[in-house]
Amino acid sequence: MGKDVIIACDFASKEQTLDFLKNFTLEKPYVKIGMELFFAEGPDIVRIIKDLGHKVFLDLKLCDIPNTVKNAMRSLSVLGADMLNVHAFGTVDMMKAAVEGAVRADGSRPKIIAVTLLTSVSEETVNKELMINSSMEKAVAQYAANAKSAGMDGVVCSPLEAAKVKKECGNEFLTVTPGVRFALSDAQDQKRVTTPDDAKALGSDYIVMGRPITKAANPLQAYRRALNEFVD
Ligand code: C5P
Repeated sequence: MGKDVIIACDFASKEQTLDFLKNFTLEKPYVKIGMELFFAEGPDIVRIIKDLGHKVFLDLKLCDIPNTVKNAMRSLSVLGADMLNVHAFGTVDMMKAAVEGAVRADGSRPKIIAVTLLTSVSEETVNKELMINSSMEKAVAQYAANAKSAGMDGVVCSPLEAAKVKKECGNEFLTVTPGVRFALSDAQDQKRVTTPDDAKALGSDYIVMGRPITKAANPLQAYRRALNEFVD
């Protein structure tokens, strides 16, 4: 399975994003478009970045009743993104509806993955605030099993949980893992972080890195460092 680094382009506008992508002339990194950019610029931003030759993970983390998610997925999948996602918290029925809705007229569909527990959330918050009375690892494994039974292609989880997910759901089940930082750098608001090297050793298929690349003095160098550590 091809491993790759996905850059989280958490920018406020199309101009800032395109300006950032000018750093990459030879390579065409896999780009993640999140809520900030999508809500600011609308669906065209997906087509524009696809037209530049990038693969796109459209990270909108849908979570609603099954019928609404099914129809929303239909609207999103025609934009041409390579990967879409929903919250596993939305239930197996909702995830099944998401997969159904994402099938395009020609029978193809983007990869669809489920967010397990956000990497910005600690076990203490999960237990005390969300009242999920389980260890992080167990909760993630259960959410991943739910996602698999619904026909999803994989999950978003911490690299720290990737091995457990693979064990539960099989090696083909994708693990897309944010919460990645270079050694000795600032974790910012992420609580459960690993280095690209560690993510590789732990079995992640894709790492998602935002600020360590987008805010780097030399984004190209930071991206190549991530590729070197994670893929090569
Ligand atoms: O800048 P940073 O590397 O922390 O960016 C991580 C990206 O991954 C953000 O766009 C964030 O929304 C996303 N993400 C995450 N944790 C999840 C799911 C998505 O950090 N569990």
